[in-house]
Amino acid sequence: MEVREVGVVGCGIMGGGIAQVCATHGYYTTVVEADEDRLQHGLDRVRRSLTREVERGRLSQERYDRALRRLRGTTFLGDLANCDLVIEAVSEDLATKKQVFAELGRACKPEAILATNTSSLSLSELAAASCRPDKVIGLHFFNPPTALRLVEVVSSQSTSAETIETAMAFCDSIDRLTVRVKDTPGFIVNRLLVPFIFDAIRMVESGVATAEDIDRACRFGLNHAMGPLATADLIGLDVLIQISESMFEEFGEPRFKAPTLLRRMVSLGYLGRKTGKGFYEYEAR
Ligand SMILES: NC(=O)c1ccc[n+]([C@@H]2O[C@H](COP(=O)([O-])OP(=O)(O)OC[C@H]3O[C@@H](n4cnc5c(N)ncnc54)[C@H](O)[C@@H]3O)[C@@H](O)[C@H]2O)c1
Repeated sequence: MEVREVGVVGCGIMGGGIAQVCATHGYYTTVVEADEDRLQHGLDRVRRSLTREVERGRLSQERYDRALRRLRGTTFLGDLANCDLVIEAVSEDLATKKQVFAELGRACKPEAILATNTSSLSLSELAAASCRPDKVIGLHFFNPPTALRLVEVVSSQSTSAETIETAMAFCDSIDRLTVRVKDTPGFIVNRLLVPFIFDAIRMVESGVATAEDIDRACRFGLNHAMGPLATADLIGLDVLIQISESMFEEFGEPRFKAPTLLRRMVSLGYLGRKTGKGFYEYEAR
């Protein structure tokens, strides 16, 4: 099946970025948000991000204009009825996502593929909720989706070969690099990354080294683009806990258990970049 129109549900950090990538690569893209305020906030962020791309010389004015013309927003899921592919990127909460998949199953045309950007929740549960399990797939983009090209293509036992093929071809068409992985908590990247970040947090917690020095060590000793604590701030400290919970539940290993310091920071509302404070402080954007 050829994908022509794309829907994105949720216009937060990930949904907004995914919608931007789709629109700049030629797809008519409709984003759905929970209410008008959040929709306008999300679309404003996409516009600012596109403007920065033009200012940095990465996007021509002509592509910018075309991308904006292809992008539209709505608060009504029924507006996705003509989409060939819908990518869900709402908050990481199983009940919310199941409800979205049940509604998408009713609202979208029967041949449409329904993808989720979940980092940790079970694909099978969403597939069952959609009532079209063969057409449900995971497309796990990375933050920020406009800059990081990897997509983990996640299949469950019910995902059909045709759905996988269409999803991989779509990822190629938006210039992403894909890896295939079965539906297991953390997929490939987070299963490796989360214990690494947690060890870094435990080092801060026990006073072994500062966040700055741990990050500096990884950047200049391991050639990482960012250290683990700056990465934690970028992901969102609350999201990190959510991701780790499903891995801890599945594998039962202490390395997947969120450190006390992380839990305390989240309780205080220090969620990383999105709240202006995590292991580092940030100016509002
Ligand atoms: N933040 C990351 O680094 C990252 C990376 C990869 C994947 N993910 C995954 O992407 C998804 C979204 O994460 P995020 O960081 O963009 O979160 P976010 O909080 O920035 O955005 C979620 C958005 O979903 C909207 N939303 C909630 N319920 C909705 C509904 N019923 N209909 C429409 N919109 C709704 C919210 O208003 C919010 O704007 C999660 O599943 C997360 O696990 C996040």
